[in-house]
Amino acid sequence: MNAWTLTYDELSPDRAGLREALCTLGNGYFATRGATPEPHTDGSRRPGTYIAGCYNRLTSTVAGQEVENEDMVNAPDWLPLTFRVGDGPWFTTSEAHDDRVELDLRRGVLTRTCRVRDQAGRVTRMTQRRLVSMDDPHVAALEATLVPENWSGRLTVRSALDARVRNEGVRRYSLLRGDHLRPLDTGRDGPDAAGTGRTWLRAETATSRIRIALAARTSVDVQASDRGTLGEPVASAADGWVACDLGVDAAEGRVVQVEKVVALYTSRDTAISDDLTAAREAAARAGTFGEVLRRHTLAWERIWRSCAVDIGGGEGQLALNLHVFHLLQTVSPHTADLDVGVPARGLHGEAYRGHVFWDELFVFPFLDLRYPQTARALLRYRWRRLPQARAAAREAGLRGALFPWQSGSDGREETQVLHLNPRSGRWLPDNSRLQRHSGIAIAYNVWQHYRVTGDVTFLSDFGAELLLEIARMLASLTEFDEEAGRYRIRGVMGPDEYHDGMPDREEPGLDDNAYTNIMTVWVLMRALEVVEALPEWRSRDLREALELTPAELEEFRRITERMRVVFHDGVVSQFDGYAGLEELDWAGYRATYGDIHRLDRILEAEGDTCNRYRASKQADVLMLFFLLPAEEFARILCRLGYTCEPDLISRTIDYYLARTSHGSTLSSVVHAWVLADTDRESSWRFFLEALRSDIEDVQGGTTAEGIHLGAMAGTVDILTRCYTGLSTAEGVLRLDPLLPAELDCFTFRIRYRGHWGIEVSICEGRVAITVPPSDEPPLEVELSGRRVDVPPGHTRVMALHPAHGAPTGV
Ligand code: BGC
Repeated sequence: MNAWTLTYDELSPDRAGLREALCTLGNGYFATRGATPEPHTDGSRRPGTYIAGCYNRLTSTVAGQEVENEDMVNAPDWLPLTFRVGDGPWFTTSEAHDDRVELDLRRGVLTRTCRVRDQAGRVTRMTQRRLVSMDDPHVAALEATLVPENWSGRLTVRSALDARVRNEGVRRYSLLRGDHLRPLDTGRDGPDAAGTGRTWLRAETATSRIRIALAARTSVDVQASDRGTLGEPVASAADGWVACDLGVDAAEGRVVQVEKVVALYTSRDTAISDDLTAAREAAARAGTFGEVLRRHTLAWERIWRSCAVDIGGGEGQLALNLHVFHLLQTVSPHTADLDVGVPARGLHGEAYRGHVFWDELFVFPFLDLRYPQTARALLRYRWRRLPQARAAAREAGLRGALFPWQSGSDGREETQVLHLNPRSGRWLPDNSRLQRHSGIAIAYNVWQHYRVTGDVTFLSDFGAELLLEIARMLASLTEFDEEAGRYRIRGVMGPDEYHDGMPDREEPGLDDNAYTNIMTVWVLMRALEVVEALPEWRSRDLREALELTPAELEEFRRITERMRVVFHDGVVSQFDGYAGLEELDWAGYRATYGDIHRLDRILEAEGDTCNRYRASKQADVLMLFFLLPAEEFARILCRLGYTCEPDLISRTIDYYLARTSHGSTLSSVVHAWVLADTDRESSWRFFLEALRSDIEDVQGGTTAEGIHLGAMAGTVDILTRCYTGLSTAEGVLRLDPLLPAELDCFTFRIRYRGHWGIEVSICEGRVAITVPPSDEPPLEVELSGRRVDVPPGHTRVMALHPAHGAPTGV
C-alpha cells in the first residue's frame, strides 16, 4: 500500500460526499472540495470552496421560529471545465467510465483519470490534475489532458466560473437559507491568438458584504504544431456565470492539453488595491500549470520536512499522512497572516457552519511545536474578539471575557438555538452554549504557547490579557456556598453534550461539572503566575488597565483552595447529582441499534433523554487526565483539601470508559491518551479508532460534511507527545517514551526554542535526537529523567529499557 496516495477506484454516488471531503485541496487561505469539474446530468454536483474567515449571516424561519445563523460561505466555484465533440452535448459525469481518483498527499495534487464515451461511441481518454497552491495562497490550477481514442474532429473546451452556488452541503440544514452569495458582475478578454481565454467574476456575500473576485486564464494546446482555429467565445454577464469556449481540431491519438489557472481574492485581503484587480493580475502572472505546480510542490516539500511523522509504513501510515495533510490545508503557515480561528470541520464542508469551537485545544500542540507563528495568529483571533467576549460576560452578569461556544466572524455566540434530530425529525432546544469551558481551552492554549516558546513578549503583548480576562470570567462564575464552605459553579455544561440539565430540573445546566471546576482552579493558578511572569512594569500596567485589584487576585487564590469537587463510588463525579442517575442498558441498546454513537438521538426519538442516564457522548471528567499530568491533577486535589488516592485516576478512567458512546471523534483521542500509561493495548485500539475517524467515516456519514480536525490533529499528538512522553519546560526537551507494542519505530521533527527541525527517532529500543546545525547553544534533553546536551549538528543516541523506555545507557 502506498502511504502517500489516497485512491478511489470508482466514483460511486453514495460515497461522493466522503470522497469530496477527503479529496479537498487547500492552503489555509481557501480550500476546494474534490467535486468533479464537469456537471452531473441530474444537476446534483455540489461544489464547495471555502475561504478562511469568510462568513455571512442570514435569518431563516424554522419550526415557526426566526433563527439567525452565520455560515462559512460557499464561495464561487472555480472548477467548471467540460468539453464536447463537434456540436454534440457537453460532457457530464454520467459519460465518464473507469474513473480513478488519486490524492497525492506528498505534493498536494488530485489526479483523476477516466474515459469519456459520448452517445455516438466516441471515446476520449482524460487525465485531470488539480492543486490549490501552497506557495501562493490565492492561486489554484486545473489541467486536463484529453486524448481522442477513436475519433478526430472539432473539440471545444468550456471553462467557467460560477457564483450561482449556495450553501447546501448539509442535508440537516436544508430548511435554513443557503443564499449567502450574490453575484455582482463578470467579464472576459480573449481568447487571444495564443489560444488563451481570460474570464473573471465578482460576487458579494449577502450581509457581511465581503467581495470575492475570481479570475481564470484558460488555454488549450494541441500536441505538435497544428493548433487549429479557435471557436467563438461565450460569455454570460448577468447571472453569476462566465465561461470561455476554446475550440481546436483534435486528431485521434493526439494529446490536447487544457490548463486553467485561477486566482481568488476577497475584499478582506491585505496588500491589494481592489480584489478584482488583484485576482486578474495574479492569474495573469501565475505562469503555466507546470510552473504553478513546481512552486506548489516545493512548498509542500518544505512542509513535509518539518511535519511528517513516519511510523514505518504499516497500519495507519496513510491515515496519519492524511491527517497531517488536512490539518495543514486548514491551518498552514499562510494562516499566520490571517484573522481566523480553527474551524472544527476544516475548510472542508459546511458542518457546524465553519464555526470555531474548543477543538483548537487538540490542534495547538501540533502548531506550537512546528509553526508557532500560526498558533499565535490563531490566539490573536481570540484576542481581537475580547470586546465582544467582555460584552457577553457583562450581559451574563459576569466579569472578564466570556468566549462563545461557537465563534465566527466577530466572536459573538453563534451556537444555534434549535437543532434537528434527524432520527425523530424534531427541532429541539440547543443548550450547548452553556459550555463555558470554551474559555478554559483558550487559556490553556495561551499558557502552553508561552511554555513552549518561552516568549514573555507574547504574554506581554496580548497573551496575559487574554488569560487574565478568562480567569476573571471563571472566577465570577463561581459562588461561595456557605454551608459547604466551598466555591461552586452552577448551571453549566461540561464537554459531554449528552447532559445539558438534570432530569428533575426545568432550567438547563449542571452544577459542579468536575472538568469545569478543576480546570477553573488550574486557570486561576496560571493567572496568578502570569501576573508574576510579566516584567514588573508591564504587570502593573496591565492590572491597572484591567482594574484587576489585589482583592480580586486574592479571591482567585481562595478559589484555587476551596473549589468543590464531587465524588461517588470512589470516582470523580462528572457533576453534582450524577450518582443519582440511572444506569443505561448498554448491551440492550447495542443489540437493538448496532451503532449507538449518537445515543442522544436514539433516546430522544424514543421520547427519552440522556439526561436520565450515566451515559456520556465523549470524555468529560477524563479530559482532566488528558490535559493535566497525574501529579498535577493530584496536587490540585490536595490543594483543594481532597485526598487523591493512588488509584483514583485509573478507577475514574475505567468507570467512564464503560459509560461512553464516543459520539464525538474527540472521544477516542482522549481515551487513547488517558489509557497510554496503564493499558497500552486499549490505548492503541482507541488511537486506531481515531485514525479511522474520517478515512472510514466512523460516525456514519459526518465526514462528507467536513473533516474532524480535532481528531486529525489529536492522532499526531498521541504519537508525538503522548507515547513519547514529550514535554517542554524551561528550555528543556523531556522525553519519557512508553510505546504500544505495535509501534517499534517512528520518527518526527519539532521546532523548539531556537532549534528548527529537531529530529526525534525512536526505534528498536533506542532514542536518537538530532539537532540541525545552527549557532544556538546545545539543546538540553532529558530522557526518562537523565540529562544530556545535544549540540547543533549532532545526534545523541540513547537506549531505552525494553519494557517502557527507561534509558539503560548512552
Ligand atoms: C463535540 C464537541 C466539538 C464539536 C465540534 C461536537 O460533536 O461534542 O466537543 O467541539 O463537535 O467538533
